[in-house]
Amino acid sequence: MLKRLFDRNLRTGGGRRKGYEPMARAEFERLPGHVAIIMDGNGRWAKKKGLGVAQGHRRGTEALREIIRHTSDLGIGVLSIYAFSTENWSRSPEEVAALMQLVLDFFASEIDELEARNVRIRILGDKGGLPAAQREVLLQAEARTEGNTGLQLNIALNYGGRNELTRAAREIARDVAAGELSPEAITEQTVAAHLYTRGQPDVDLLIRTSGEMRLSNFLLWQCAYAEFLFPRTLWPDFDVRCYDEALSAYGSRERRFGGRLG
Ligand code: IPE
Ligand code: IPE
Ligand code: MG
Repeated sequence: MLKRLFDRNLRTGGGRRKGYEPMARAEFERLPGHVAIIMDGNGRWAKKKGLGVAQGHRRGTEALREIIRHTSDLGIGVLSIYAFSTENWSRSPEEVAALMQLVLDFFASEIDELEARNVRIRILGDKGGLPAAQREVLLQAEARTEGNTGLQLNIALNYGGRNELTRAAREIARDVAAGELSPEAITEQTVAAHLYTRGQPDVDLLIRTSGEMRLSNFLLWQCAYAEFLFPRTLWPDFDVRCYDEALSAYGSRERRFGGRLG
């Protein structure tokens, strides 16, 4: 598959990014059903260019737009993107404000296209901990796209995996205390049904850009058997070609789920 990608790029102009023709679904041996992306490296990208960090984040949302489009074109079922973690509040007030502004700008500019593409949006994370204007926009986006049947787009905002699991434990405990559930009846499915991703398949492929190799509290439960890829590209430079490379690499991974093949 990687060879095919290489041959194909020769055909399409030797890797000139502008001339790159995105791969079609049929060209992949196997595509993931659920892709999760930790969009990392905006700060380093900005620094390299002598720009402010807010500029890096802005260019990051441009990269995101293309990745969402391609995911939707490929017919991948679920895309989860990490936009703001529960730990990101520790950044400077200026940077947090810039990121929050980008949330508003992103939905203002993208919601019509997402709707037209039949994308369904779900926010992963505690919307109650976000400023009122952002919360409102997010609730609207979820409500407006609720009946859509295309790509399921999960946007993790004010999200932390431990926070999500703690919240699930609290909800389950409440059901037990109310006498609606016996402790023996709690299964893995019970826990999964109390996560933000309830009803969705587990992550098949996790991509973290910028070369960092850690989860940073993202989808801890859902990534139990995910394949991990850590491209060195900084997020604002992560284009459709980089994405096709990652998806192709996933296709050649051997997934075992604890069993023995062959
Ligand atoms: C990721 O880029 C975006 C967010 C965390 C919101 P960073 O801002 O973490 O970029 P680096 O890691 O500093 O390069
Ligand atoms: C993870 O990136 C969070 C997002 C991409 C939103 P960070 O840059 O915040 O993670 P650490 O601090 O390097 O682990
Ligand atoms: Mg980072």
